[in-house]
Amino acid sequence: MLNFDFYSPTRVLFGMGRHREIGALAAQRAKKVLLHYGGGSVKRSGVYGEIASSLEENGVQFAELGGVVPNPRLSLVRKGVELCLSEGVDLILAVGGGSVIDSAKAIAMGACHKEDVWDFFEGKLKDLSALPLAVVLTIPAAGSESSPVTVISNEEKKLKEGYRSDALRPFVSIVNPELFFTLPEDQIANGVADMMSHVFERYFTDTAKTDLTDGLCEAALRTIIKNAPVLMDDRRDYDAWAEIAFSATLAHNGLLGMGRKEDWASHRIEHQLSAVYDIAHGAGLAVIAPFWMKYVYGDNVGMFAQFAMNVMGAAPSRDIEGLALEGIGRLRRFFSSLGLPSTLRDLGIGSGDFEFMAKNATGAARGSEKPLGGLKKLLWQDVVEIYRLAQ
Ligand code: NZQ
Ligand code: ZN
Repeated sequence: MLNFDFYSPTRVLFGMGRHREIGALAAQRAKKVLLHYGGGSVKRSGVYGEIASSLEENGVQFAELGGVVPNPRLSLVRKGVELCLSEGVDLILAVGGGSVIDSAKAIAMGACHKEDVWDFFEGKLKDLSALPLAVVLTIPAAGSESSPVTVISNEEKKLKEGYRSDALRPFVSIVNPELFFTLPEDQIANGVADMMSHVFERYFTDTAKTDLTDGLCEAALRTIIKNAPVLMDDRRDYDAWAEIAFSATLAHNGLLGMGRKEDWASHRIEHQLSAVYDIAHGAGLAVIAPFWMKYVYGDNVGMFAQFAMNVMGAAPSRDIEGLALEGIGRLRRFFSSLGLPSTLRDLGIGSGDFEFMAKNATGAARGSEKPLGGLKKLLWQDVVEIYRLAQ
Protein backbone atom coordinates (compact mmCIF):
# COMPACT_ATOMS: atom_id res chain seq x y z
CA MET A 1 0.00 0.00 0.00
CA LEU A 2 1.27 3.49 -0.88
CA ASN A 3 1.27 6.46 1.48
CA PHE A 4 -1.93 8.47 1.15
CA ASP A 5 -3.83 11.59 2.18
CA PHE A 6 -7.57 11.04 2.58
CA TYR A 7 -9.58 14.26 2.51
CA SER A 8 -13.31 14.15 1.85
CA PRO A 9 -14.91 17.05 3.70
CA THR A 10 -18.31 17.05 1.97
CA ARG A 11 -21.18 16.50 4.35
CA VAL A 12 -23.53 14.04 2.66
CA LEU A 13 -27.20 14.18 3.73
CA PHE A 14 -28.66 10.92 2.47
CA GLY A 15 -32.25 9.73 2.36
CA MET A 16 -35.94 10.41 1.91
CA GLY A 17 -37.16 13.98 1.96
CA ARG A 18 -33.78 15.44 2.80
CA HIS A 19 -33.62 17.94 -0.09
CA ARG A 20 -36.08 20.07 1.87
CA GLU A 21 -33.30 20.77 4.39
CA ILE A 22 -31.36 22.78 1.82
CA GLY A 23 -32.77 26.19 2.80
CA ALA A 24 -31.66 25.87 6.43
CA LEU A 25 -28.20 24.72 5.36
CA ALA A 26 -27.79 27.50 2.81
CA ALA A 27 -28.91 30.10 5.39
CA GLN A 28 -25.90 29.19 7.56
CA ARG A 29 -23.51 30.27 4.78
CA ALA A 30 -25.21 32.80 2.54
CA LYS A 31 -27.63 35.63 2.06
CA LYS A 32 -27.92 35.23 -1.70
CA VAL A 33 -27.63 32.01 -3.67
CA LEU A 34 -27.25 31.25 -7.39
CA LEU A 35 -29.70 28.42 -8.08
CA HIS A 36 -28.15 26.52 -11.00
CA TYR A 37 -29.94 23.76 -12.92
CA GLY A 38 -30.23 21.98 -16.26
CA GLY A 39 -32.71 21.75 -19.10
CA GLY A 40 -35.95 21.45 -17.20
CA SER A 41 -36.21 18.05 -15.49
CA VAL A 42 -36.16 19.76 -12.08
CA LYS A 43 -39.15 21.86 -13.02
CA ARG A 44 -41.09 18.89 -14.43
CA SER A 45 -40.40 16.78 -11.33
CA GLY A 46 -41.38 19.53 -8.90
CA VAL A 47 -37.95 19.56 -7.21
CA TYR A 48 -37.30 23.15 -8.32
CA GLY A 49 -40.45 24.34 -6.53
CA GLU A 50 -39.54 22.51 -3.33
CA ILE A 51 -36.01 23.94 -3.32
CA ALA A 52 -37.26 27.46 -4.01
CA SER A 53 -39.76 27.16 -1.12
CA SER A 54 -37.09 25.84 1.23
CA LEU A 55 -34.82 28.80 0.42
CA GLU A 56 -37.65 31.32 0.84
CA GLU A 57 -38.80 29.80 4.13
CA ASN A 58 -35.28 30.25 5.48
CA GLY A 59 -34.90 33.84 4.29
CA VAL A 60 -32.34 33.05 1.56
CA GLN A 61 -32.67 35.16 -1.59
CA PHE A 62 -31.75 33.62 -4.90
CA ALA A 63 -30.86 34.45 -8.48
CA GLU A 64 -31.19 31.60 -10.96
CA LEU A 65 -29.49 30.23 -14.04
CA GLY A 66 -30.89 27.18 -15.82
CA GLY A 67 -29.95 25.68 -19.16
CA VAL A 68 -26.93 23.55 -18.32
CA VAL A 69 -26.63 20.82 -20.97
CA PRO A 70 -24.85 17.46 -20.68
CA ASN A 71 -21.15 18.14 -21.38
CA PRO A 72 -21.57 21.57 -19.75
CA ARG A 73 -20.50 24.52 -21.84
CA LEU A 74 -17.93 27.19 -21.08
CA SER A 75 -20.22 29.90 -22.50
CA LEU A 76 -22.85 29.29 -19.78
CA VAL A 77 -20.13 29.21 -17.12
CA ARG A 78 -18.99 32.68 -18.21
CA LYS A 79 -22.60 33.90 -18.04
CA GLY A 80 -22.88 32.44 -14.54
CA VAL A 81 -19.73 34.23 -13.40
CA GLU A 82 -21.13 37.58 -14.60
CA LEU A 83 -24.44 36.89 -12.86
CA CYS A 84 -22.71 36.09 -9.56
CA LEU A 85 -20.79 39.36 -9.69
CA SER A 86 -23.78 41.52 -10.70
CA GLU A 87 -26.15 39.90 -8.16
CA GLY A 88 -23.70 39.69 -5.24
CA VAL A 89 -24.09 35.94 -4.91
CA ASP A 90 -22.23 34.28 -2.04
CA LEU A 91 -23.08 30.59 -2.57
CA ILE A 92 -23.79 28.41 -5.59
CA LEU A 93 -26.49 25.78 -5.28
CA ALA A 94 -26.37 23.10 -7.99
CA VAL A 95 -29.61 21.14 -8.42
CA GLY A 96 -28.90 18.41 -10.95
CA GLY A 97 -26.30 15.89 -12.03
CA GLY A 98 -22.63 15.98 -12.92
CA SER A 99 -23.09 18.58 -15.66
CA VAL A 100 -24.90 21.08 -13.43
CA ILE A 101 -22.51 20.49 -10.53
CA ASP A 102 -19.44 20.88 -12.73
CA SER A 103 -20.83 24.06 -14.27
CA ALA A 104 -21.51 25.35 -10.73
CA LYS A 105 -17.95 24.52 -9.67
CA ALA A 106 -16.48 26.41 -12.61
CA ILE A 107 -18.71 29.42 -11.88
CA ALA A 108 -17.64 29.26 -8.23
CA MET A 109 -13.96 29.60 -9.25
CA GLY A 110 -14.60 32.15 -11.98
CA ALA A 111 -16.50 34.41 -9.61
CA CYS A 112 -13.42 34.74 -7.38
CA HIS A 113 -10.95 35.68 -10.15
CA LYS A 114 -10.68 38.47 -12.69
CA GLU A 115 -8.96 36.21 -15.25
CA ASP A 116 -10.98 34.11 -17.73
CA VAL A 117 -12.14 30.89 -16.10
CA TRP A 118 -10.86 28.72 -19.01
CA ASP A 119 -7.31 29.64 -17.92
CA PHE A 120 -7.75 27.14 -15.06
CA PHE A 121 -8.52 24.34 -17.50
CA GLU A 122 -5.49 25.20 -19.63
CA GLY A 123 -3.24 25.04 -16.58
CA LYS A 124 -2.41 28.78 -16.69
CA LEU A 125 -4.04 29.49 -13.33
CA LYS A 126 -3.95 27.54 -10.10
CA ASP A 127 -5.65 28.91 -7.07
CA LEU A 128 -7.51 27.70 -4.03
CA SER A 129 -10.36 30.20 -3.81
CA ALA A 130 -13.93 29.57 -4.92
CA LEU A 131 -17.41 30.46 -3.69
CA PRO A 132 -18.93 27.79 -1.44
CA LEU A 133 -20.96 25.10 -3.19
CA ALA A 134 -24.00 23.10 -2.17
CA VAL A 135 -25.59 20.29 -4.18
CA VAL A 136 -28.98 18.63 -4.47
CA LEU A 137 -28.28 15.58 -6.62
CA THR A 138 -30.85 14.43 -9.19
CA ILE A 139 -28.87 11.65 -10.93
CA PRO A 140 -26.29 9.37 -9.34
CA ALA A 141 -23.51 8.91 -11.90
CA ALA A 142 -20.59 11.33 -12.10
CA GLY A 143 -19.81 11.50 -8.37
CA SER A 144 -19.21 15.24 -8.69
CA GLU A 145 -21.25 15.74 -5.50
CA SER A 146 -18.21 14.69 -3.46
CA SER A 147 -15.31 15.12 -5.89
CA PRO A 148 -12.83 18.01 -6.19
CA VAL A 149 -13.11 18.02 -9.99
CA THR A 150 -14.98 20.02 -12.63
CA VAL A 151 -15.08 18.97 -16.30
CA ILE A 152 -16.13 21.62 -18.84
CA SER A 153 -16.54 21.60 -22.63
CA ASN A 154 -15.05 24.45 -24.61
CA GLU A 155 -17.40 24.35 -27.57
CA GLU A 156 -15.25 26.65 -29.74
CA LYS A 157 -12.08 24.61 -29.33
CA LYS A 158 -13.85 21.21 -29.27
CA LEU A 159 -12.05 20.39 -26.04
CA LYS A 160 -13.33 18.92 -22.79
CA GLU A 161 -10.96 19.48 -19.89
CA GLY A 162 -10.98 18.94 -16.15
CA TYR A 163 -9.68 21.04 -13.29
CA ARG A 164 -9.11 19.77 -9.78
CA SER A 165 -8.98 21.70 -6.51
CA ASP A 166 -10.09 20.87 -2.98
CA ALA A 167 -11.81 24.28 -2.98
CA LEU A 168 -14.32 22.76 -5.41
CA ARG A 169 -15.59 20.13 -3.00
CA PRO A 170 -19.19 20.99 -2.07
CA PHE A 171 -19.60 21.71 1.66
CA VAL A 172 -22.86 19.78 1.56
CA SER A 173 -24.46 17.37 -0.91
CA ILE A 174 -27.99 16.08 -0.52
CA VAL A 175 -28.58 12.62 -1.98
CA ASN A 176 -32.26 11.63 -1.86
CA PRO A 177 -32.93 8.44 -3.87
CA GLU A 178 -36.58 9.53 -4.38
CA LEU A 179 -35.34 12.27 -6.73
CA PHE A 180 -34.04 9.61 -9.14
CA PHE A 181 -37.45 8.00 -9.81
CA THR A 182 -38.00 10.20 -12.89
CA LEU A 183 -34.77 9.20 -14.68
CA PRO A 184 -35.19 7.59 -18.11
CA GLU A 185 -33.61 4.16 -18.72
CA ASP A 186 -30.74 5.44 -20.86
CA GLN A 187 -29.65 7.90 -18.15
CA ILE A 188 -29.80 5.16 -15.51
CA ALA A 189 -27.57 2.97 -17.69
CA ASN A 190 -25.15 5.80 -18.49
CA GLY A 191 -24.82 6.53 -14.80
CA VAL A 192 -24.11 2.89 -14.00
CA ALA A 193 -21.31 2.74 -16.60
CA ASP A 194 -19.80 5.96 -15.23
CA MET A 195 -19.87 4.99 -11.54
CA MET A 196 -18.43 1.55 -12.35
CA SER A 197 -15.68 3.22 -14.37
CA HIS A 198 -14.80 5.41 -11.38
CA VAL A 199 -14.14 2.20 -9.46
CA PHE A 200 -12.21 0.64 -12.38
CA GLU A 201 -9.89 3.66 -12.57
CA ARG A 202 -8.85 2.92 -9.00
CA TYR A 203 -9.16 -0.88 -8.90
CA PHE A 204 -6.98 -1.84 -11.88
CA THR A 205 -3.52 -1.03 -10.57
CA ASP A 206 -0.12 -2.58 -10.18
CA THR A 207 0.16 -1.49 -6.55
CA ALA A 208 0.53 -4.60 -4.42
CA LYS A 209 -0.93 -5.42 -0.97
CA THR A 210 -4.20 -3.50 -1.23
CA ASP A 211 -6.58 -6.04 0.29
CA LEU A 212 -8.92 -3.56 1.97
CA THR A 213 -9.47 -1.27 -1.02
CA ASP A 214 -9.62 -4.27 -3.40
CA GLY A 215 -12.50 -5.54 -1.28
CA LEU A 216 -14.24 -2.14 -1.08
CA CYS A 217 -13.99 -1.73 -4.86
CA GLU A 218 -15.33 -5.23 -5.46
CA ALA A 219 -18.22 -4.70 -3.03
CA ALA A 220 -19.19 -1.43 -4.74
CA LEU A 221 -19.08 -3.07 -8.18
CA ARG A 222 -21.10 -6.12 -7.07
CA THR A 223 -23.68 -3.84 -5.44
CA ILE A 224 -24.09 -1.84 -8.64
CA ILE A 225 -24.30 -4.97 -10.81
CA LYS A 226 -26.94 -6.48 -8.51
CA ASN A 227 -29.15 -3.40 -8.28
CA ALA A 228 -28.98 -1.87 -11.77
CA PRO A 229 -31.22 -4.55 -13.37
CA VAL A 230 -33.74 -4.03 -10.55
CA LEU A 231 -34.05 -0.38 -11.60
CA MET A 232 -34.43 -1.34 -15.25
CA ASP A 233 -37.56 -3.26 -14.17
CA ASP A 234 -38.81 -0.67 -11.68
CA ARG A 235 -37.47 2.88 -11.76
CA ARG A 236 -39.21 3.64 -8.47
CA ASP A 237 -37.47 0.99 -6.34
CA TYR A 238 -36.17 3.12 -3.46
CA ASP A 239 -33.93 0.44 -1.96
CA ALA A 240 -32.17 -0.31 -5.25
CA TRP A 241 -31.63 3.41 -5.83
CA ALA A 242 -30.24 3.81 -2.32
CA GLU A 243 -27.66 1.07 -2.97
CA ILE A 244 -26.72 2.49 -6.36
CA ALA A 245 -26.53 6.09 -5.14
CA PHE A 246 -24.38 5.35 -2.10
CA SER A 247 -22.08 3.27 -4.33
CA ALA A 248 -21.81 6.14 -6.82
CA THR A 249 -20.86 8.66 -4.14
CA LEU A 250 -18.31 6.30 -2.57
CA ALA A 251 -16.96 5.44 -6.02
CA HIS A 252 -15.71 8.98 -6.49
CA ASN A 253 -15.06 10.58 -3.08
CA GLY A 254 -11.48 9.29 -3.13
CA LEU A 255 -11.72 6.50 -0.56
CA LEU A 256 -11.49 3.59 -2.97
CA GLY A 257 -8.21 4.83 -4.44
CA MET A 258 -6.36 5.35 -1.18
CA GLY A 259 -2.96 3.66 -1.11
CA ARG A 260 -3.22 2.65 -4.78
CA LYS A 261 -1.77 4.07 -7.99
CA GLU A 262 -4.84 5.22 -9.95
CA ASP A 263 -5.26 5.07 -13.73
CA TRP A 264 -7.78 7.46 -15.42
CA ALA A 265 -6.74 6.65 -19.01
CA SER A 266 -10.27 5.49 -19.96
CA HIS A 267 -11.71 8.78 -18.71
CA ARG A 268 -9.23 10.89 -20.67
CA ILE A 269 -9.90 8.81 -23.78
CA GLU A 270 -13.68 9.14 -23.36
CA HIS A 271 -13.65 12.88 -22.65
CA GLN A 272 -12.33 13.43 -26.18
CA LEU A 273 -15.34 11.56 -27.59
CA SER A 274 -17.72 13.74 -25.54
CA ALA A 275 -15.86 16.87 -26.67
CA VAL A 276 -16.02 16.10 -30.39
CA TYR A 277 -19.29 14.13 -30.69
CA ASP A 278 -21.24 15.47 -27.67
CA ILE A 279 -22.15 11.96 -26.51
CA ALA A 280 -23.11 11.05 -22.94
CA HIS A 281 -19.98 10.42 -20.84
CA GLY A 282 -21.31 7.12 -19.42
CA ALA A 283 -22.25 5.78 -22.85
CA GLY A 284 -18.73 6.56 -24.10
CA LEU A 285 -17.20 4.79 -21.11
CA ALA A 286 -19.35 1.70 -21.68
CA VAL A 287 -17.52 1.38 -25.00
CA ILE A 288 -14.03 2.55 -24.05
CA ALA A 289 -13.50 0.91 -20.63
CA PRO A 290 -13.74 -2.73 -21.86
CA PHE A 291 -11.46 -2.02 -24.85
CA TRP A 292 -8.97 -0.25 -22.58
CA MET A 293 -9.07 -3.41 -20.43
CA LYS A 294 -8.36 -5.59 -23.46
CA TYR A 295 -5.40 -3.38 -24.36
CA VAL A 296 -3.78 -3.28 -20.90
CA TYR A 297 -4.77 -6.48 -19.06
CA GLY A 298 -1.41 -8.14 -19.85
CA ASP A 299 0.28 -5.64 -17.51
CA ASN A 300 -1.46 -7.20 -14.49
CA VAL A 301 -3.33 -10.25 -15.66
CA GLY A 302 -3.83 -11.48 -12.08
CA MET A 303 -5.86 -8.37 -11.20
CA PHE A 304 -8.15 -8.91 -14.18
CA ALA A 305 -8.57 -12.59 -13.23
CA GLN A 306 -9.46 -11.49 -9.68
CA PHE A 307 -12.02 -9.07 -11.16
CA ALA A 308 -13.52 -11.90 -13.22
CA MET A 309 -13.98 -14.12 -10.17
CA ASN A 310 -14.76 -11.62 -7.38
CA VAL A 311 -16.95 -9.22 -9.37
CA MET A 312 -18.20 -10.85 -12.57
CA GLY A 313 -18.92 -14.28 -11.09
CA ALA A 314 -16.53 -16.35 -13.25
CA ALA A 315 -15.57 -19.78 -11.87
CA PRO A 316 -11.95 -20.16 -10.66
CA SER A 317 -9.58 -21.61 -13.24
CA ARG A 318 -5.83 -22.18 -13.68
CA ASP A 319 -6.07 -20.37 -17.02
CA ILE A 320 -5.43 -16.88 -15.66
CA GLU A 321 -5.42 -15.18 -19.05
CA GLY A 322 -8.63 -16.96 -20.04
CA LEU A 323 -10.21 -15.78 -16.79
CA ALA A 324 -9.12 -12.19 -17.39
CA LEU A 325 -10.72 -12.20 -20.84
CA GLU A 326 -13.82 -13.93 -19.48
CA GLY A 327 -14.28 -11.08 -16.96
CA ILE A 328 -14.02 -8.44 -19.67
CA GLY A 329 -16.50 -10.37 -21.86
CA ARG A 330 -18.96 -10.64 -18.99
CA LEU A 331 -18.67 -6.91 -18.34
CA ARG A 332 -19.46 -6.13 -21.98
CA ARG A 333 -22.50 -8.41 -21.83
CA PHE A 334 -23.65 -6.72 -18.62
CA PHE A 335 -23.41 -3.27 -20.21
CA SER A 336 -25.32 -4.53 -23.29
CA SER A 337 -28.05 -5.96 -21.04
CA LEU A 338 -28.65 -2.39 -19.79
CA GLY A 339 -29.02 -1.17 -23.38
CA LEU A 340 -25.60 0.54 -23.43
CA PRO A 341 -23.57 0.79 -26.66
CA SER A 342 -20.67 -1.61 -27.10
CA THR A 343 -18.78 -0.12 -30.07
CA LEU A 344 -18.03 3.33 -31.44
CA ARG A 345 -20.22 2.43 -34.39
CA ASP A 346 -23.16 2.03 -31.98
CA LEU A 347 -22.48 5.66 -30.99
CA GLY A 348 -22.41 6.75 -34.64
CA ILE A 349 -18.68 7.52 -34.47
CA GLY A 350 -16.33 6.82 -37.41
CA SER A 351 -12.54 6.85 -37.53
CA GLY A 352 -12.03 10.39 -38.89
CA ASP A 353 -11.00 12.09 -35.63
CA PHE A 354 -8.98 9.34 -33.92
CA GLU A 355 -5.63 11.10 -34.24
CA PHE A 356 -7.02 14.54 -33.28
CA MET A 357 -8.66 13.08 -30.17
CA ALA A 358 -5.68 10.91 -29.20
CA LYS A 359 -3.28 13.85 -29.43
CA ASN A 360 -5.59 16.01 -27.31
CA ALA A 361 -5.96 13.22 -24.76
CA THR A 362 -2.21 12.93 -24.13
CA GLY A 363 -1.33 16.59 -24.68
CA ALA A 364 0.72 15.78 -27.80
CA ALA A 365 -1.44 18.32 -29.66
CA ARG A 366 -0.02 21.06 -27.39
CA GLY A 367 3.54 19.78 -27.75
CA SER A 368 3.62 18.58 -24.15
CA GLU A 369 2.72 14.91 -24.26
CA LYS A 370 2.18 13.19 -20.89
CA PRO A 371 1.47 9.47 -21.19
CA LEU A 372 -1.97 8.50 -19.88
CA GLY A 373 -2.64 5.82 -17.31
CA GLY A 374 -1.18 4.24 -14.21
CA LEU A 375 -1.24 0.54 -15.03
CA LYS A 376 0.13 0.93 -18.55
CA LYS A 377 1.56 4.16 -19.90
CA LEU A 378 -0.26 5.15 -23.09
CA LEU A 379 1.10 7.49 -25.77
CA TRP A 380 -1.19 9.00 -28.39
CA GLN A 381 -0.48 6.09 -30.75
CA ASP A 382 -1.77 3.67 -28.08
CA VAL A 383 -4.90 5.77 -27.71
CA VAL A 384 -5.52 5.59 -31.48
CA GLU A 385 -5.14 1.81 -31.19
CA ILE A 386 -7.79 1.68 -28.44
CA TYR A 387 -10.18 3.78 -30.57
CA ARG A 388 -9.51 1.36 -33.47
CA LEU A 389 -10.22 -1.69 -31.28
CA ALA A 390 -13.47 -0.05 -30.15
CA GLN A 391 -14.71 0.63 -33.71
O1 NZQ B 1 -30.92 18.90 -18.03
P1 NZQ B 1 -32.04 18.18 -17.38
O2 NZQ B 1 -33.37 18.51 -17.96
O3 NZQ B 1 -32.01 18.28 -15.88
O4 NZQ B 1 -31.84 16.60 -17.78
C1 NZQ B 1 -30.73 15.85 -17.34
C2 NZQ B 1 -29.75 15.55 -18.46
O5 NZQ B 1 -30.36 15.57 -19.70
C3 NZQ B 1 -31.23 14.48 -16.98
N1 NZQ B 1 -31.67 14.38 -15.58
C4 NZQ B 1 -30.93 14.63 -14.48
N2 NZQ B 1 -31.65 14.34 -13.38
C5 NZQ B 1 -32.86 13.90 -13.81
C6 NZQ B 1 -32.88 13.91 -15.22
N3 NZQ B 1 -33.95 13.53 -15.94
C7 NZQ B 1 -35.03 13.10 -15.26
N4 NZQ B 1 -35.07 13.03 -13.91
C8 NZQ B 1 -34.01 13.42 -13.15
N5 NZQ B 1 -34.04 13.29 -11.82
O6 NZQ B 1 -30.11 13.64 -17.13
C9 NZQ B 1 -29.31 14.13 -18.21
C10 NZQ B 1 -27.84 13.96 -17.88
O7 NZQ B 1 -27.45 14.82 -16.85
P2 NZQ B 1 -25.90 15.04 -16.54
O8 NZQ B 1 -25.79 15.98 -15.41
O9 NZQ B 1 -25.19 15.37 -17.81
O10 NZQ B 1 -25.44 13.56 -16.12
P3 NZQ B 1 -24.24 13.04 -15.29
O11 NZQ B 1 -24.49 13.16 -13.84
O12 NZQ B 1 -23.94 11.73 -15.86
O13 NZQ B 1 -23.02 14.06 -15.58
C11 NZQ B 1 -22.17 13.89 -16.68
C12 NZQ B 1 -21.09 14.95 -16.66
O14 NZQ B 1 -20.24 14.79 -15.51
C13 NZQ B 1 -18.87 14.79 -15.93
C14 NZQ B 1 -18.97 14.15 -17.29
O15 NZQ B 1 -17.80 14.34 -18.04
C15 NZQ B 1 -20.19 14.79 -17.88
O16 NZQ B 1 -19.88 16.07 -18.43
N6 NZQ B 1 -18.03 14.13 -14.93
C16 NZQ B 1 -17.71 14.82 -13.83
C17 NZQ B 1 -16.89 14.30 -12.85
C18 NZQ B 1 -16.51 15.09 -11.67
N7 NZQ B 1 -16.84 16.37 -11.64
O17 NZQ B 1 -15.90 14.57 -10.72
C19 NZQ B 1 -16.31 12.96 -12.97
C20 NZQ B 1 -16.92 12.13 -14.04
O18 NZQ B 1 -15.98 11.17 -14.44
C21 NZQ B 1 -17.39 12.88 -15.23
O19 NZQ B 1 -16.31 13.16 -16.12
ZN1 ZN C 1 -16.76 9.51 -15.10
